[in-house]
Amino acid sequence: MKKFIFIAFILVLTAGGWRYYTGETKTKVVTLCNTCPPGFERTDDNRCRFRSLYQMYETKDGNNPGVGGLKTALPAVRDGFTPQQIDLGRYLFFDPALSADGTISCASCHQPDKGFSDGLPTSVGIKHTSLKRAAPSLWNVAFNKRFFWDARASTLEEQMTGPLYSPEEMGTTPEQLHNTLNNLPAYRDLFRQAFPQKNNDRIELSEVYTCIAAFEATLISLNSRYDQYAHGYAEALTKNEIEGLNIFRSFVARCTECHTPPLFTNQQVAVIGLAEPDHTFDVGAAKTFHDPTLKGAFKVPSLRNAALTAPYTHSGRFEKLEDMIAFYTKGRGHEVPPTEKLRIHWHIWEPHLRHDEIDRLADFIHTLTDESFKPQTPEWLPSGIKMETKQPGNSLSLNQP
Ligand code: HEC
Ligand code: HEC
Repeated sequence: MKKFIFIAFILVLTAGGWRYYTGETKTKVVTLCNTCPPGFERTDDNRCRFRSLYQMYETKDGNNPGVGGLKTALPAVRDGFTPQQIDLGRYLFFDPALSADGTISCASCHQPDKGFSDGLPTSVGIKHTSLKRAAPSLWNVAFNKRFFWDARASTLEEQMTGPLYSPEEMGTTPEQLHNTLNNLPAYRDLFRQAFPQKNNDRIELSEVYTCIAAFEATLISLNSRYDQYAHGYAEALTKNEIEGLNIFRSFVARCTECHTPPLFTNQQVAVIGLAEPDHTFDVGAAKTFHDPTLKGAFKVPSLRNAALTAPYTHSGRFEKLEDMIAFYTKGRGHEVPPTEKLRIHWHIWEPHLRHDEIDRLADFIHTLTDESFKPQTPEWLPSGIKMETKQPGNSLSLNQP
């Protein structure tokens, strides 16, 4: 009888929370979140659909948003993921287990507290490798049609195979990533929760990409003071900020020709004529589109949350917003090295902005800051790798040696 009770006890334990007793370490049992993140509505078929006031606005002629209008419609959004896929993507995004040596995660270079950038002129990858370009912010990537500074990827899924498998960034391979995740019982359980329809226990790489994309697509920032103003609350901006907005939209400064609301990017590439810090010229989008007239062209970055993502440009040239804005007023082509022939965009001109106008533009860009949908950093990772958080609200150091 005693023996029977003991066996029954063990069976109960096995069926319960101790399922993941693997070797020496007990793995926590986690249930993925079943509600959609803020800004999303859950549909009857358990999908998260993005909702925003901007979706009530129509554009004048179909797809042409025009420039500078306050009540301008948004481009199509990447949504329709399940709450569980989004939550699993959050764990994957922060987990250094996805890199070759367990030292670096997506969040190492896209830190929530640094506008999902890293505060460096150019990023640093695995084994302290210096990269050639700066980490762009991930806010509002759900609306992007092209990814990377040179626009070389056209989906979030395609984009992430870049950092994952680059020997300079996370340094892993599809085989290694597949093995690592399949060898972690906690991940096998979480993927079963996120893909309940699957009938086997194997994690597929396509599921990994889906979840990370699902998470990235929730990083939406459209509730800034500028947005309140755009939706009709006139008091949301100060006099100086409204003056900045008006300069920004003016035909003299022409900022909205490229940094078009509501995303503050027209999603195109443009040659603005920046010099490179180390003198090796980055041809940018010329390579992507096999078009020599695009030599030195880069994707127009969104200015949302730009106040949080210094230093600026693809090569991290400018420390301060004011320095970046001053670039536009120092003369068309003033930085182009004499050895390079660039076809500078027609909207780059010489607006002769005064110092106070540069300050007003910077004031205005600050009104585009909104982190109200910033996701929570996980306190625990399914790989068992420890999250090192320095201070509450401070940036993470993810076991970076
Ligand atoms: C070592 C630093 C580093 C790591 C790790 C890293 N990134 Fe990046 N990320 C960058 C840099 C640098 C760029 C720009 C590269 C370029 O344009 O050539 C970039 C670009 C991007 C972009 C394009 C954004 C846009 O608007 O064009 C996305 C999306 C992105 N990363 C997501 C991720 C995800 C997801 C992961 C993890 C799987 C990841 N990154 C890991 C540094 C990093
Ligand atoms: C012809 C299109 C165009 C016009 C007009 C333009 N920009 Fe830009 N802007 C760009 C491009 C392209 C970049 C990225 C350049 C690079 O990294 O090489 C950029 C970068 C920036 C950045 C840095 C953002 C970041 O995250 O690194 C700021 C700030 C900025 N522009 C503000 C302005 C302001 C203010 C004006 C008006 C005075 C303006 N821009 C006019 C195309 C334009």
